[in-house]
Amino acid sequence: MKLRWLGHSAFELTSNNGLNILIDPFIQANPACPLKSSDVNPDVVCITHGHADHFGDVVEIARNNPNLVVICNYEISIYLQRKGVNAIGLNCGAFVKIEDVEIKMLKAEHSSTFDFEIDTKYAGNAGSFLFTFENDFKVYHAGDTGLFSDMKFVIGEIYKPDIAILPIGNIFTMDPKEASIAARWIDPEFVIPMHYNSFPSIAQDPEDFKKSVSNCKTLVPKVLEILEF
Ligand code: NI
Ligand code: MN
Repeated sequence: MKLRWLGHSAFELTSNNGLNILIDPFIQANPACPLKSSDVNPDVVCITHGHADHFGDVVEIARNNPNLVVICNYEISIYLQRKGVNAIGLNCGAFVKIEDVEIKMLKAEHSSTFDFEIDTKYAGNAGSFLFTFENDFKVYHAGDTGLFSDMKFVIGEIYKPDIAILPIGNIFTMDPKEASIAARWIDPEFVIPMHYNSFPSIAQDPEDFKKSVSNCKTLVPKVLEILEF
């Protein structure tokens, strides 16, 4: 499995068989991402919630990729289907299997609106994703969230991910200190911070996070760096 950070909460996960999954495709307007939306060519896009910094360029990416499948919550899937996008709407606890990867939607403690629309429409519940690859390797992408006890009792004890990708920016999500508690509760092998330094309001030093995590290895990738697992 290969993992590439595109800045903010945007990550590409590529299975050993080449299935390319793009999570939270905030590319064109992402100050941390040097790519254009036409530079990515995913098979699957997963969207954690409706906010513009996660919904991103999905409509444009779908226009350029007629075979694209979008996995998101039910409300966002209705919105995308009306725009002609092939979207599968899940709700918390449900999963789909695409080729050899199981994609499960789990909860997040956050809000979800189409905040880029003038009347800021409701966009279902904010979620997170658990990806299970063919060798049972599991990646948890927390989306935008605060700390919640299911990180310990559901994500940590039941799903046991190998990698947990956690927001640390504060203001909209957990800060580094609370994210380090999440890392302790989830107890993966590797933890990766996200949702920081893309905007001045979420400036954080990932080394502060790294220092407060002792139970697992903290990886701080550079934008576009590819990590292999
Ligand atoms: Ni958000
Ligand atoms: Mn966000």
